[in-house]
Amino acid sequence: MPVAVIVGMQWGDEGKGKIIDLLAENADVVARYQGGHNAGHTICFNEKQFVLHLIPSGIFHEDKLCVIGNGVVVDPQALVAEMHQLEETGINLQGRLLISDRANIIMPYHGTSDKGRESESGFQKIGTTGRGIGPSYADKIARAGIRICDLRDEAYLTERLRANHDEKQKILKSLYGTELPGFNSLLDELMSHRETILKYTADTHIFLRDQIAQGKHILCEGAQGTMLDVDHGTYPFVTSSNSTAGGACTGLGIPPTKVDRVLGVIKAYTTRVGEGPFPTELSDADGERLGKVGHEFGATTGRPRRCGWFDAVVARYGVHINGVDALILTKVDVLDGFKTIKVCTGYKYKGKVFPDMPADPGVMANCEPVYAEFDGWSENTVGIQDHDKLPQNAKDYISRLSDLVETPFMMISTGPDREQTIQRESLF
Ligand code: GDP
Ligand code: IMO
Ligand code: MG
Repeated sequence: MPVAVIVGMQWGDEGKGKIIDLLAENADVVARYQGGHNAGHTICFNEKQFVLHLIPSGIFHEDKLCVIGNGVVVDPQALVAEMHQLEETGINLQGRLLISDRANIIMPYHGTSDKGRESESGFQKIGTTGRGIGPSYADKIARAGIRICDLRDEAYLTERLRANHDEKQKILKSLYGTELPGFNSLLDELMSHRETILKYTADTHIFLRDQIAQGKHILCEGAQGTMLDVDHGTYPFVTSSNSTAGGACTGLGIPPTKVDRVLGVIKAYTTRVGEGPFPTELSDADGERLGKVGHEFGATTGRPRRCGWFDAVVARYGVHINGVDALILTKVDVLDGFKTIKVCTGYKYKGKVFPDMPADPGVMANCEPVYAEFDGWSENTVGIQDHDKLPQNAKDYISRLSDLVETPFMMISTGPDREQTIQRESLF
C-alpha cells in the first residue's frame, strides 16, 4: 500500500496537520500537492505546537523526506521564513526537503491583486487569506506564471518578470490605483531567495517515481478541503486549486494508477472561514460553544471560524468525489457536554429534499437543513486512546456517522496532541 492521499473533507481545518504528522511515523515521504501559504496545519507534540503553511506535515520526523509538489504555489519569502523558523527549532531540512522545479511562484503583485479584488465592491468578496493564491493560480493557467525552475536562468527570469511587471503595473494601477514596487526591487527580492530555494529544488516527480518503484510509503498531503476545491466546492467561495484527491496526481506527477488509498479527514462538526454558504452554520450558543471549546480560529489569519453541526451531505459528497476508503474523525472531544447533537442528512429547498450536493450557490445558501438528533454525553473524552473507553453515546454517534456516510472511521482524534488518538487500523 505505498501511496495514500490525505484529503480534507469539509471547508479545511479538519486537523489534517495532526493526522499527517501521526501517519508520517510509518511513511517514508510526505508530499504536499496543492495550495500555498493560505494553509495552516497545526501539529502538537511534547507540549509544543507548530503551525506549518507550506512545508509538509512530516517534517518533524527526522528520517522522513518532504516534497513541495508542482501543484503548490510558493511564495519565496514565506517559504524561506518558514524554513528558517524550523531550522531555529533544530529541524534539519538539508537533504530532507525537496521543492518541485515546476511549482509556480507567488509574487508580491499577486497579493496586491488578491487584496484589491477583495476590497472592490464590484466583485463578490470571497474572504480569502489575502496571500495571492487566486491571482497566482490565474497566472499559472494563463501561462504567465514564473516557476521555480526559472530561478536557474537569470536572463529568462528577468525577461518573464519584466513582462509580468509591466502588465500587472497597468492593471493594478487602473483598477485600484496601486503603484507596484519598481521592477528592480521585485527582481532583487526574488533573487535574494534564489540560492536558498535552488539548494532544495529537484525534479520531484522523478524522485517520487523512484520512491514508488522502491515500494516506499508516500503520503500525499492535501491542503484546504473538498468544499473549497475550485471545481467541486462551493464555487465561487472556494480556493483556486484542486484540493480533492485528483489534485494529488496532477500536483505531484503521480499517475492515478499508483494511488492505493484515499483517506478523508473530517471533523465531528463543521467549520468554515471566509464567506460562502454553510447550511448547518449556528449563530446561537451551541455555535459559540463549538468555537470556544474547539479553539476555532484560523491557523493562518487568526479569523474566527464559523461553526455548525456535522453535515452528512457534505461528507457523503466528499467520500464520492475523493473515492475515500476510510475516514479519520477529529475533534470528537469538542462535543463533550452537549445535551443534544445534530447531524444534517439532507437539504430542503422549495419543498424538495436534496440528498446530494447541489451546484447552485442559491440552493445551498437558502436551503433548510434536515436534521437527525442524537443524545450527547456528559463524560470527558479528551485524550482517550481506546475506543472501548468512549462513552456509549459517543460510540453511537460515531457509528451513526459512519452509517450515514457509508464509510468506516480508521482513526478517531480526541485532542490536538499526537498521543490523543484512537487508532483502529494502521495505514501501511
Ligand atoms: P488543518 O488545516 O486541517 O491541518 O487543521 P488546523 O490545524 O488548521 O486546525 C485544526 C485545529 O484543531 C488545530 O488547532 C489542531 O491542533 C486542533 N485539533 C486537531 N485534532 C483535534 C482533536 O481531535 N481535538 C481537539 N480538541 N483539537 C484538535
Ligand atoms: P487548511 O489547509 C480553511 C479559505 C479562505 C477563503 C477561501 C479562499 O489549513 O485547511 P484563498 O486565500 O485560498 O484564496 O481563500 O478559502 N481557505 C481556507 N479555509 N483552511 C484552509 O487551509 C484554507 N485555505 C483557504 O478562508 O474562504
Ligand atoms: Mg488549517
